[in-house]
Amino acid sequence: MAKHTVITMPGDGIGNQVLPESLRVLKAVGFDAEYIHADIGWDCWCNNGNALPDRTIELLTKHKLGLFGAITSKPNKAAQAELKPELQGKGYVYYSPIVTMRQKFNLDICMRPCVGFTGNPLNYIRKKVGGGFDEPQIDTTVFRQNTEGMYGGVEWTNPPENVRAALNSHPRFKAFANVPGPDLAVSCRIITRNAAKRICTAAFEFAKNRGFKGVTICEKPNVVRETSGMMEEVAKDVAKNYPGIALWSTNIDAQLMWLNKNPEEYNVIVASNLFGDILSDAFAGLVGGLGFAASGNIGDDVAVFEPTHGSAPKYAELNPPIVNPIAMILSAAMMLDHVHEGPKADRIRKAIAEVVREGKVRTYDMMRFTGGSKAIQGAASTVQMTGAILENLK
Ligand code: NAI
Ligand code: MG
Repeated sequence: MAKHTVITMPGDGIGNQVLPESLRVLKAVGFDAEYIHADIGWDCWCNNGNALPDRTIELLTKHKLGLFGAITSKPNKAAQAELKPELQGKGYVYYSPIVTMRQKFNLDICMRPCVGFTGNPLNYIRKKVGGGFDEPQIDTTVFRQNTEGMYGGVEWTNPPENVRAALNSHPRFKAFANVPGPDLAVSCRIITRNAAKRICTAAFEFAKNRGFKGVTICEKPNVVRETSGMMEEVAKDVAKNYPGIALWSTNIDAQLMWLNKNPEEYNVIVASNLFGDILSDAFAGLVGGLGFAASGNIGDDVAVFEPTHGSAPKYAELNPPIVNPIAMILSAAMMLDHVHEGPKADRIRKAIAEVVREGKVRTYDMMRFTGGSKAIQGAASTVQMTGAILENLK
């Protein structure tokens, strides 16, 4: 029997192209695992009115470890229209399966490393005062609270009477009191002390293990006083347990400006859900973008690893596939770290670093093409990129 069982959920679009590539790499490093396929995504919604099938939930509950590709999500109206005719009008409501999965298994720690590989033409560069450019080494990991905040899903357009009454009890709601229901949309930003403590602790533990000298809490406590205020307060409490590690506090708006000035100074950033989502995409942009952005959704019991990109429908139909498998392969390496197979993960990251450094094999996204898919020439395919990584594993 294999040592590990991994639930593989390719999902939609390019998820089906990149996930199998990560399995080739896992096999090549000798990861002792059995893989069980599970369905997720748009077809499940269209055919069954449920994008996250019960079998997938059961498999994850049992085996606790998942690799996920990407899914397609569409707004409510489009989702209803694509539901198969016999299911339409029966009260099915579309929920994003990855958001549901994070909440269902309390995968509350989202870890998103943004680490630059030397030689990547997409890396951030900065003009020097005296002329020329420098290319600082970016090594940032964003810890994003993954289950609450702005993505908690407690929201209404035309809030019901009792909600409206509660809102009316707040003096600041006077300004909105006369807005007709259908013209009023409300999304709750919920932060709980316990979840805030867990994400801050994860960030500090990571900083400790990696030997980083500080953690940045990135919120907006001067304006969003209650929720960002609680995040910052908890970060300060947690910091007391890590005397050798400094806590810096930045505001989300200023942080995005500093991202363009001195991104190399931020190694560990912790934030609530929406801010963490924004920060991790922004930092990923400095190290090559979506083709390089890996992530882990980690709970106490279950963990699921996925590239942060989506299903990229524009590219999903191309044959042979040309999207970059590196984000998915790096996500698989994070899974190895998680199951204490760090040396295998390091081998994978070293092989990727070597391919990028050599610069002989590059997928289209690494080549700064303009003019659409017809202009793409000389780029490696998805399979060729994995092949180059496998070569360097030897
Ligand atoms: P996307 O991430 O799918 O693609 C945006 C663009 O990024 C692509 O057109 C392509 O140019 C580039 N790109 C993405 N992955 C790449 C890769 N591996 N290699 C090279 N280039 C890559 O985001 P988009 O277009 O906004 O959304 C498409 C669908 O994906 C939507 O239905 C959206 O809801 C869903 N989505 C799903 C996510 C998930 O499964 N976790 C996350 C983000 C979006
Ligand atoms: Mg995102």
